[in-house]
Amino acid sequence: MTNTADYIQQIRNDFPALHQEVNGKPLIYLDNGATTHKPNAVIEAEAEFYRTVNSNVHRGAHKLSDLATEQFENARRTVQEFIGAIKPEEIVWTRGTTEGINLVAATWGRKNLSKGDRILVSGMEHHSNIVPWQMLCEQTGAELVVIPVLDNGELDLNGFAELMEPRVKLIAVTHVSNALGTVNPIPDIVRMARINESVVLVDGAQAVAHFDVDVLQLDVDFYVFSSHKLFGPTGMGVLYGKEELLNEMPPYQGGGEMIEHCSFDGTTYNVLPYKFEAGTPNIAGAIGLATAIKYLKGLDRKLLVKHEESLIQHAHQLAAELGGIRIIGEAPKKASVFSFLLEGAHPADVGTLLDQQGIAVRTGHHCTMPLMARFDVPGTVRASMSIYNTLDEVDALFKGLEKAKMFLL
Ligand code: ALA
Repeated sequence: MTNTADYIQQIRNDFPALHQEVNGKPLIYLDNGATTHKPNAVIEAEAEFYRTVNSNVHRGAHKLSDLATEQFENARRTVQEFIGAIKPEEIVWTRGTTEGINLVAATWGRKNLSKGDRILVSGMEHHSNIVPWQMLCEQTGAELVVIPVLDNGELDLNGFAELMEPRVKLIAVTHVSNALGTVNPIPDIVRMARINESVVLVDGAQAVAHFDVDVLQLDVDFYVFSSHKLFGPTGMGVLYGKEELLNEMPPYQGGGEMIEHCSFDGTTYNVLPYKFEAGTPNIAGAIGLATAIKYLKGLDRKLLVKHEESLIQHAHQLAAELGGIRIIGEAPKKASVFSFLLEGAHPADVGTLLDQQGIAVRTGHHCTMPLMARFDVPGTVRASMSIYNTLDEVDALFKGLEKAKMFLL
């Protein structure tokens, strides 16, 4: 049995981009909330598709097109199994989390919401899970209502309960906050939603890379995530929806595979999931995502969950030792996201000094301006960790912060 440190080193060997120097220093990549690096298997699967099969799907007049279709639909089944959906028809390809949310807003939302209805979002949402609903409210006259966030970064469940009433038709919340790391109690939210007959959409962009997600067990109506935060290619994402909801929704974009029959007298639409997949899809992206999922499933995920817990615990401990650090987001249940301020220094300056030492973090509002306003900060420095980060890298982050402190304060 190898120890965890050796196992993580083995995993690191699968990710070529981790082994480079940046600004003359070995890269320490702590910006996984923005995007993760890709294992060789994913890079190779995409390249192999373009090297060989490279044909359009569902246009079946030739062998390569058949092969492309087979790989593309197998990828859908891989995603279905990964998140525990009942049928592949419930898996809709999108460009990413943002498009998945916009799709639901533009189709389910426009069909089902009207003046007087309410949409609940949490105060820790990413702009992508706020603005599509604001646009929908402008179009329908519905109202956006915000579930408060507690000082430690947890969702205020009592505040949430008080907001529940028959006018609430939709609850759209993130599974894991990109800016705080908070893991939200989706089962509690769904339980209350069911009593109220509200539909629940969960933004899983920051969740799926960190722990197993089972949409059936969670009993959510919609679940969206991106491939590129899950070790897969960019420009690819997934919308899971319950079949009965997807069936009742009008199509999103027109053209290509979403059509059953087209005439100038009118058009009929294809069955699920193709009804929502207009135009040539990102075929290589789907294959790349499925490869990323298979890669992840081949790892010891339980051990990796524990490993990520040890990374975040280590960061919190070193922060206490260093002093002068204000952590934003201290929910008891949090993913490996360390969001903080070095007191007296601007987050952007801290980020620049870390970058000079080869340490990649994100600084700023993290596309969560309302959340930053809630904590009355201009932004934070965010070190977001993944399966391949090491305790040594967390040590290096704090050595970097020590230097930043000397330089900036
Ligand atoms: N939403 C991504 C992040 O949190 C881009 O960095």
